[in-house]
Amino acid sequence: MKTFDVYNQFDVVPIKGKDVYVYDEFNNKYLDLYGGHAVISIGHSEKKYVKNITNQLNNIGFYSNAVRNPLQDKLSNEINLQADLDNYKLFMCNSGAEAVENALKLSSFYTGKKRIIAFKNSFHGRTSAAVAVTDNKYINSELNKQHNVSFIEFNDNTKLEIELDKGDACAIIFESIQGVGGLDQPDEDFINGLAYYQKKYQVSIIADEVQSGFCRSGQFFAFQKFNIQPDIITIAKGMGNGFPVGGILVNPNIHPQKGILGTTYGGNHLACVASLRKKNNICKKALELESYFKNIASKFSSIKKVKGRGLMLGIEFDFDVSELRSKLVYEHKIFTGSSSNKNLIRILPPLSIKKNHFDIFFNALNKSL
Ligand SMILES: Cc1ncc(COP(=O)(O)O)c(C=O)c1O
Repeated sequence: MKTFDVYNQFDVVPIKGKDVYVYDEFNNKYLDLYGGHAVISIGHSEKKYVKNITNQLNNIGFYSNAVRNPLQDKLSNEINLQADLDNYKLFMCNSGAEAVENALKLSSFYTGKKRIIAFKNSFHGRTSAAVAVTDNKYINSELNKQHNVSFIEFNDNTKLEIELDKGDACAIIFESIQGVGGLDQPDEDFINGLAYYQKKYQVSIIADEVQSGFCRSGQFFAFQKFNIQPDIITIAKGMGNGFPVGGILVNPNIHPQKGILGTTYGGNHLACVASLRKKNNICKKALELESYFKNIASKFSSIKKVKGRGLMLGIEFDFDVSELRSKLVYEHKIFTGSSSNKNLIRILPPLSIKKNHFDIFFNALNKSL
């Protein structure tokens, strides 16, 4: 073992991907209901995606932000158009945690304050402030704990107002659907109510769409189920379909100042091209497949709860699912995801998935239970 061994891993070595399948070194075919952690959106090695990245690489793969890159403007326009946003400005970086880190830092610059309000069971990444707003003591070192963070339960307006009354909060960060936390969602009234606090306390609202964005929830962004205009939206995962890219979308109310954010690789030519593509009804299809999945799941008496929306789903049992997930991988060649809820299997497939793939999954599940 030559790598720094921090991951729990299945003993599978994928060497090829095609649409919703990955293939290992022995040409075994695995149905990918995990999407490499909700990353694969338009499908593994989608034809046009591969062609566009290859063409770009043959021209220029990278130059830094010391020069203009019109592809970033094109991508910003395209995201605003597809997501039906009103002129949010794009700043690009390289991962989800980096997006969150920049969103928190910008909120602090913007408000001049430094405490952050986050939610119980949240996950926002592993870098300094991103992990500090993640509700998991085990992955926070002493260094991370120096950030000023208050965790409250979803829907607890009383506690939220007590925290905001202290007057030092720069941001409220939330996931519209908690991914790693196990697919819980805040009430609609609670998130709609954040608009009132946003004005009253001059606090920045950050919608973390790193996992739920780019149609995974059935809407372009999961927060669009609510009536709220975030100050900052964090994006990554589905954006690049596997190409490492992230970013923040900044409300036009927040004005940029030279030098306050920056990165060498962020917004490079390959990342832009990997993220530039047409929507092709994938939001609508995600909603249709959600109904199909939930309908079949409801017929399984052993499934206690179906959680989430779009193609960001979870099925909850009354037992630890780690053995079941291993059986699905080794006996049925199906990848699924886990979460901090040990009884829950997460379903995060490429958004190009079809009904028959869910039939295959439920058949295998039936045999494995
Ligand atoms: C909601 C959310 N925010 C941030 C992150 C961090 O993203 P990354 O792993 O790309 O740093 C994740 C990763 O799972 C996430 O689910």
